[in-house]
Amino acid sequence: PDNLTLRDTLVAKDDARTHRVLVVMDEALCRAQPSLVGQVNRYFDRHGDRLKLVCDPMQFEGGERTKNSYFHVSEIHSKIEMHHIDRHSYVIAIGGGALLDMAGLASSTAHRGVRHVRIPSTTLSQADSGVGVKNGINAFGKKNFIGAFAPPYAVINDFDLLSSLNDRDKRNGYIEAVKVALIRDREFFEWIEGNAEALAAFSPEPMRQLIHRCAELHINHIATSGDPFEFDSARPLDFGHWAAHKLEQLSEYRIRHGEAVALGIALDVVYT
Ligand SMILES: NC(=O)c1ccc[n+]([C@@H]2O[C@H](COP(=O)([O-])OP(=O)(O)OC[C@H]3O[C@@H](n4cnc5c(N)ncnc54)[C@H](O)[C@@H]3O)[C@@H](O)[C@H]2O)c1
Ligand SMILES: [Zn+2]
Repeated sequence: PDNLTLRDTLVAKDDARTHRVLVVMDEALCRAQPSLVGQVNRYFDRHGDRLKLVCDPMQFEGGERTKNSYFHVSEIHSKIEMHHIDRHSYVIAIGGGALLDMAGLASSTAHRGVRHVRIPSTTLSQADSGVGVKNGINAFGKKNFIGAFAPPYAVINDFDLLSSLNDRDKRNGYIEAVKVALIRDREFFEWIEGNAEALAAFSPEPMRQLIHRCAELHINHIATSGDPFEFDSARPLDFGHWAAHKLEQLSEYRIRHGEAVALGIALDVVYT
């Protein structure tokens, strides 16, 4: 409750108003960090002068399964309607990239878009998707078939959230850093090479630096490329992603996004 980052972010725009907040959380994260839901409740109790948590945090199963049906989106829509989440209110999603994509779609379609805040809890989502502008779920066996481009109101990376990830999901985000370094920043690529052992051992400081630089390069690209909503066919951030999306689908999402991108990059560099 003493950390004012979230509070200050939410109240920054309108001085006097009390903002209504709906929180959506990743079930696996809540299981792995059992005190988290209580902490969220206490945070809003403490800052009740300006923020009102409209109900207990909603919890949804995380991972790709959360994106495989429309059901969760409509559950969030229903809470948004029931608790009068309007365009001055917030939907805060705390979880992995899949949960953020799903909750982002619900937020960006209710009332044609309510403010949504992302608090990513995996290496991949902190380094990449959290700062992106894409939201969506899968349909007809196709990844991200139903979706919307909508920038989040804010993204808050809390490195402590990563502590409960298994090694596979810790490592899963690294490849997006390798990708963006290859296309944008040679020095960063050499830094990754030099720190490979420490990163493989999940040493906290190099991990934090990798996530920070990777997110920064992604934001810079989105903000300055002149094509944030991907109307052109040149999409450098999608390096390795064509094969990746296919691999994810073919494996029925048993291959993680980061793992698939690693294979996709390997394929692209051989065939191009
Ligand atoms: N919108 C975008 O721009 C964009 C970019 C890249 C990837 N993505 C999407 O993100 C998704 C992958 O996201 P991801 O790699 O973050 O994995 P994920 O969301 O699938 O999460 C992996 C697993 O970890 C669990 N989990 C999350 N945080 C945890 C924590 N702190 N402790 C313990 N368990 C935790 C989840 O419940 C899930 O089971 C894919 O659907 C991918 O397409 C979107
Ligand atoms: Zn990606």
